[in-house]
Amino acid sequence: MEAGPQPKGSCRRVVVQPLHLKIVSRESALKLRTVTATRYVTPLREGGSLPAVIEADDDGMYVLKFRGAGQGRKALIAELVAGELARAAGLPVPEIVFVELDPELARTEPDPEIQDLIRASAGLNLALDYLPSAVTFDPLAFTPDAALASRLVWLDGFVSNVDRTARNSNLMVWCEKLWLIDHGAALYFHHQWNGYLERAASPFALIKDHVLLPFAGELAAADAAMTAALTPQVIADVVALIPDEWLEDDPLFADPAAQREAYRAYLCKRLQAPRAFFEEAVRARAQHL
Ligand SMILES: Nc1ncnc2c1ncn2[C@@H]1O[C@H](COP(=O)(O)OP(=O)(O)O)[C@@H](O)[C@H]1O
Ligand SMILES: [Mg+2]
Repeated sequence: MEAGPQPKGSCRRVVVQPLHLKIVSRESALKLRTVTATRYVTPLREGGSLPAVIEADDDGMYVLKFRGAGQGRKALIAELVAGELARAAGLPVPEIVFVELDPELARTEPDPEIQDLIRASAGLNLALDYLPSAVTFDPLAFTPDAALASRLVWLDGFVSNVDRTARNSNLMVWCEKLWLIDHGAALYFHHQWNGYLERAASPFALIKDHVLLPFAGELAAADAAMTAALTPQVIADVVALIPDEWLEDDPLFADPAAQREAYRAYLCKRLQAPRAFFEEAVRARAQHL
């Protein structure tokens, strides 16, 4: 097993043996692993949420999203749900794991801002597998294929992800392949639950700024492929992964199960034709050309 970041250019991954790994068991056919953070390696100061590269007890390196950061647990839910929906539809997303974080990890950290973040994030967090020496997507250096670009534009309309612009693509190129990261800003409907079901049918005008829109020449085929892949069962399985402790109390919901049910109902309704977010993407592309 590797003990640190891999040499530049390496495409080798740490293969994790499922020997001592707890599996978080929920009512889902999907199973994510749970690891425990053992070392804070370095902050990633790109966006506002201050994620960090950490090492875990399986010797793997991960990019940790802290529950105590900015948008907090809602960002973790968005990362989990949008990321696993993308994976279920065959889009390349680094493995997502749950991460137990002991606030004692803050002791050896000199930066007080990071100390505070670690202390505010005790408990269950989320992380993506760290892609060593991946580079930020640059449309001048890497041309994504039309089928993938179209499915990604469709996905980001579906999950209302504002964070895939030319300035901030949240796409990495690793081993000559495009990888999706950072879905923390997706699912913005969950910041205001009132009237959420009505909003499921709304378009997503910001799709006009999507970095891959110019490459998305196969939107109709993507619509067929994505709706076939994202069955009601898949949606239910993804939503069932949301841990109780990430769900904030809301007067609309009696318990965590009722809130998970709201996520499921919203996403299923958003998939029903006519899909305004898809029509909006087609329109935005036509205007762009
Ligand atoms: N899984 C990953 N592997 C390698 N680098 C990553 C990974 N996830 C994020 N990064 C790097 O860290 C930066 C910040 O992470 P990101 O998830 O986009 O959070 P935020 O935008 O909130 O700061 C990314 O722009 C990227 O350069
Ligand atoms: Mg980002």
